[in-house]
Amino acid sequence: MADTSQAAASTVSAAPKSAPFGKTQDGQEVQLYTLTNAHGVQVSITNYGGIITSLLVPDKDGKLGDVVLGFDNVSGYQSPAYLKAGPYFGALIGRYGNRIAQGKFTLDGKAYSLAQNNGANTLHGGKQGFDKVLWQAQPGSSADGQTLQLTYLSKDGEEGYPGNLTVTVVYTLTPDDALKIDYTATTDKATPVNLTNHAYFNLGSGKDILGHVVTIPADRYTVVDAGLIPTGELRAVKGTPFDFTTPHAIGERIGQVPGGYDHNWVLNETTGMHAAATVYEPTSGRTMEVRTTEPGLQFYTGNFLDGTLKGKGGKVYGQHAGFCLETQHFPDSPNQPKFPSTILKPGQTLQSSTTYQFGLRK
Ligand code: BGC
Repeated sequence: MADTSQAAASTVSAAPKSAPFGKTQDGQEVQLYTLTNAHGVQVSITNYGGIITSLLVPDKDGKLGDVVLGFDNVSGYQSPAYLKAGPYFGALIGRYGNRIAQGKFTLDGKAYSLAQNNGANTLHGGKQGFDKVLWQAQPGSSADGQTLQLTYLSKDGEEGYPGNLTVTVVYTLTPDDALKIDYTATTDKATPVNLTNHAYFNLGSGKDILGHVVTIPADRYTVVDAGLIPTGELRAVKGTPFDFTTPHAIGERIGQVPGGYDHNWVLNETTGMHAAATVYEPTSGRTMEVRTTEPGLQFYTGNFLDGTLKGKGGKVYGQHAGFCLETQHFPDSPNQPKFPSTILKPGQTLQSSTTYQFGLRK
């Protein structure tokens, strides 16, 4: 073991590798950056949407496997079928993650109307969210490992949001097999901001994620209406299928939740970097621990995947083929005065971090 990791260590270069990933529909070149650590763990990220396209981590036999859903080429993320389905595989989400009811909010007495892209609501930023734009990329390295810094200027009025918002996201692959995502943002007008990543994980090799065992340290979740808009109520999870305070397989109670899990959990801890979730996949032995500075976690079980999309290696993505753990502020916060505020003001810097730590249980 020691020998192979030393051999691998000597081949790890200081900066991530980059390769062409195709062209956008309007002809712009897209790059794919691959960050590697001494264990051979590898994450590939494109500057189109900041999308994590693949993430190779070892299983209990030391065999590397890809634990995220995605495509081999940028055109996979731009096909009509993909855009119609709107799963946001692996993407950076903004300016506002999850839904804003009716695409409307009022800020400092002024009413704003956003691009509506989910019925009458705005989902994940609007028609062209941060997942569908080209980011400026700077590969590099830090004391924590190889990095990819992505920057995007979201202009005043883009998708209806006020203010020029400058967003920087740094992905870091650490020597101990964590993928760290650091978000910063500044604005020149007050605006709602809620940034996250929309990776779909499947830590095993099965076609669904129902056997994954999940823990979420949250005593409450935000209740939603039929359009998945929070009612404002924070309800206790105790005695319900939403109680993941102790480990439960995803499939154990999913049948009791119409459509599957697609809810925001109110994390018990809110200060500093705190626990958001742990996941264990028994057949591979892989584990994933999520920690964040955010107060909420959207646990989404790929309910709307229906087998129409074929991903890497021709793999068909059916219902529950992957799950997302999106660290975030709560959905529709701009219309919910009792939720933690998502308003960023000029002079302030938004700072948010999330780590996905991989490991093994043998
Ligand atoms: C939302 C789902 C949505 C999915 C893909 C999730 O973050 O909560 O309702 O279908 O993203 O768009």
